[in-house]
Amino acid sequence: MISLITGGGGFIGSHLAEKLLKLNHKVIVIDNFSIGRKSNLKNIKKNIKIINQDILNEKKIEKYFKKVDNVFHLAAMADIVPSIENPKLYFDVNVKGTLNILNLSVKNQIKRFIYIASSSSYGIPKKYPTSENSKIDPQYPYALTKRLGEELVMHYSKIYNLNSTSLRFFNVYGPRARTSGTYGAVFGVFLAQKIAGKPFTVVGNGKQTRDFTYVSDIVDSIVAVSKNKKVSGEIFNVGSGKTVSVNKIVNILGGKKVLIPKRPGEPEITFADISKIKRKIGWYPKVDIEEGISKLLENLSNWKDAPLWTPKKIKKATRKWFLSLGPKKK
Ligand SMILES: NC(=O)c1ccc[n+]([C@@H]2O[C@H](COP(=O)([O-])OP(=O)(O)OC[C@H]3O[C@@H](n4cnc5c(N)ncnc54)[C@H](O)[C@@H]3O)[C@@H](O)[C@H]2O)c1
Repeated sequence: MISLITGGGGFIGSHLAEKLLKLNHKVIVIDNFSIGRKSNLKNIKKNIKIINQDILNEKKIEKYFKKVDNVFHLAAMADIVPSIENPKLYFDVNVKGTLNILNLSVKNQIKRFIYIASSSSYGIPKKYPTSENSKIDPQYPYALTKRLGEELVMHYSKIYNLNSTSLRFFNVYGPRARTSGTYGAVFGVFLAQKIAGKPFTVVGNGKQTRDFTYVSDIVDSIVAVSKNKKVSGEIFNVGSGKTVSVNKIVNILGGKKVLIPKRPGEPEITFADISKIKRKIGWYPKVDIEEGISKLLENLSNWKDAPLWTPKKIKKATRKWFLSLGPKKK
């Protein structure tokens, strides 16, 4: 079995590469390492093929699609604030990049195409748990471009008979989660603060809840879906099926907190309805939040070089967020 992972140098992609290698797949990773790190692949680099290339460069990556069985398309720009600051880059990578990968997959008669979509496309849902049929209502360019990529995948599945599935991930956490310069996912921020002995910067009152999904469960869902060739042209939520408050995370991590302003465009709750993937694929999550966090703490050194966010730095970094998504002056 030959599997190609775009974005395999990133957080989730590198865990997927490790898992597929264990399952005896030949693994090809295409990543331009704009965000991902070569060190994410250090344990397996001798046993896989790593192509340092941009997915926008269709001509340069075409040859690596020959004889490939599975394409796992994870490469994307995946932050909120930079997507507001640079929507064109997000459109190029997440939409045009997806189009390139789809074209090459059809041309090379790939057997199975898996796209990683995002629960952020639901925006601020009206119903919890949120099912796949809920209204799509992106609140910022990242969410919009991930949804446009998903629409392309569904269209290619229908028109070009590409056997494809889209998985909408909820908040994924685990070792190697992105710690790049931009202000982002809560665990990256909190773990760097824990190392430095600084208070956790909690947004709002901390009662907001998230469906935190541990990365090994996420990888298992991708593998389970890729094995099921009968399912095509479908979308599945992948989450823990539970929702946990930020205050609870702080309690488990242990430490003081400091409150910072609530941000526009963010839901109070994310909570995946995962009944469809349980029913059709037989996948279900296994790692609960306490176990997941203890695994994170075992790998705390991952975050030693991560940026240390203070309320002042966050205020500066999220200025555009408040300006673009906040109430508009009439
Ligand atoms: N982490 C989450 O909570 C989460 C939730 C929902 C969806 N997702 C999706 O899962 C996928 C993986 O996310 P992640 O958290 O591992 O992020 P990540 O940033 O760690 O991984 C994305 C990878 O794509 C690569 N990349 C970016 N632009 C590229 C380009 N033009 N050419 C080649 N490679 C490029 C980056 O270098 C990086 O290694 C993304 O598609 C993301 O939208 C993630």
